[in-house]
Amino acid sequence: MCGIIGYAGSSQAAPILTDGLARLEYRGYDSAGIAVLGPQGQPQVYKASGKLPKLRAAVGNGSPMGRVGLGHTRWATHGSPTDYNAHPHADCRSEVVVVHNGIVENYVELKRELMGLGHEFTSDTDSECIPHLIESYLDQELSLEESVRQTAARIRGANAVVAVSQRDPDRMVAFRLGNAGGIVVGYGEDEMLLASDLPALLPHTRDIVYLAPGQVASITQEGAVYTLLDGSPVDNTVSRVAYDALSAARGKFKHFMLKEIHDQPEAVTDALRGRVSFDGLTVNLEDFPYSDDEVRRIERVVLVGMGTSLHAAMTGRFWLESFARVPAEADNSSEFRYRDPVVDSNTLVVSVCQSGETADTLAAMEEAARKGAKQVTLCNYPSTQTTRVADSTVLIRSGIEISVAGTKTFTSSLISLYLLGLFLGMKRGTLERRRVEDAVRELAHLPAMIGSLLENREQYEALAQKYARRSSFLYMGRGVNFPLAMEGALKLKEVSYIHAEGYQAGEMKHGPISLIDENMPVVVLIPRDRLYEKMLSNVNEVKARGGVVVAVATEGDDELASRVDDVIYVPAASGEVTPVLMAVPMQLLAYYIAVRRGCDVDQPRNLAKSVTVE
Ligand code: G6P
Repeated sequence: MCGIIGYAGSSQAAPILTDGLARLEYRGYDSAGIAVLGPQGQPQVYKASGKLPKLRAAVGNGSPMGRVGLGHTRWATHGSPTDYNAHPHADCRSEVVVVHNGIVENYVELKRELMGLGHEFTSDTDSECIPHLIESYLDQELSLEESVRQTAARIRGANAVVAVSQRDPDRMVAFRLGNAGGIVVGYGEDEMLLASDLPALLPHTRDIVYLAPGQVASITQEGAVYTLLDGSPVDNTVSRVAYDALSAARGKFKHFMLKEIHDQPEAVTDALRGRVSFDGLTVNLEDFPYSDDEVRRIERVVLVGMGTSLHAAMTGRFWLESFARVPAEADNSSEFRYRDPVVDSNTLVVSVCQSGETADTLAAMEEAARKGAKQVTLCNYPSTQTTRVADSTVLIRSGIEISVAGTKTFTSSLISLYLLGLFLGMKRGTLERRRVEDAVRELAHLPAMIGSLLENREQYEALAQKYARRSSFLYMGRGVNFPLAMEGALKLKEVSYIHAEGYQAGEMKHGPISLIDENMPVVVLIPRDRLYEKMLSNVNEVKARGGVVVAVATEGDDELASRVDDVIYVPAASGEVTPVLMAVPMQLLAYYIAVRRGCDVDQPRNLAKSVTVE
């Protein structure tokens, strides 16, 4: 969703704001804007539709002088992505400027009321009613802080807002309502910042506070004061994040997506660290909240997630069933929350949400919490909203992911789910000791196996050259590899805009087979596992109809190579761990095809890294 940045400190604000927006652009990139309070506190506003270079051009070389300001990069919900709909938005007198993430659900009635009072609107957005409301309270001689609090109390929906004003030019006031994306407050040296996400803060500080829903932060260069909407004080503890700014830099890679694909051996190692004992050949998840007895009483597991995280959840389902022998199902969060799901205290809900802020997943978790379910969440960031709702968090430890298409967060989520499955299996007594030991021994090799998958650049470039102009792809897999077929298709459509579908191979004969011809490549996930023969039949069925097959197969399967058009090999591994390896060719194929097509790989059109509206 939209990205927000704010600054109050001893340096010039404008370069810090535009730099921060560049780090947040993955959240939305329809338009961008900044406002800096000038020498008399007057807001100097610059905005432009399109990506950041257009804003930089609008700002020009002599950037506005001032030490307090805010910025915004937009993912449009209400109003097309034009200059006049770009944030920041101002009141009638241009004294108050505001940036906003979320949806003001009652904006129609608020706008009507404000227009009735003589306020003039200049955009089509729901956001613009916020500065006008603040202005109406300032006109009643309330302080900026109080005016913002009163405004927050009038707004319905999930929203994150930051305001600055000429009336109190050293201050920014932010609030958060519901789960419309986070606001993180950063404590720097002689400066305070806020942003919707960590990457924008890390060059300045690692000391942060996540604003909880219903909280207001009043921030000056000296520090922050936190209150609830009724003005009662809140004591937020400053915590230090472990990530450094370097982990968010692109380094030698052309795109963040490629860099993050290459980060995977290290990210997977981090996900294993301290949880897997390679000496004792065992698995332990720190701070797991349930006793062995409680774990044994779990009757069912429901995994929820959206997008790539849903595909991780779908894969995890197999591991939970196989290792912990507990019925498990995976569901899309936005479906789960609305179907009055049957869950109780003997149900374990496992949510996968790398950002910790996806609105649908949060809502699904809240629904599960209302029904008394046990809850574990997988997340890349501590202290985010999802981690507050769950009983316990398994941090996936990917490091910051900037590219909109998830890659390393996917494999880190997979590994975390794999460990959760093993751990629950051990606690429930459903896993033989020998099976745990074999699994742990294999995990020790996993980072190296993933590393070996990153060395075939030429092969992917050749495949991209051959297939980049095709308009449609089919991906097929079975069992634990079916979600990987879904993920392969999702990656391709996200970054290359080619239509692609993931199918259970067994379903092919019931419909998709009618699509097979020489124009549509079929990517077949066919490792040497217990379903190999079945997959081979599917390959033959495609070939018999003149189809084109790109097989993703186990190293050494030369026989298969003679039957298909192209083969990508993955190292031999147990059937259980193979999906983690399959993830990498899915990502690389999509990446190189998108590059070949000249697509904006890191910021595909219409997408956002985390979706904080329903
Ligand atoms: C957005 C992103 C996807 C991501 C999904 C879920 O749609 O574009 O890449 O998989 O959100 O994100 P989460 O933060 O919940 O894992």
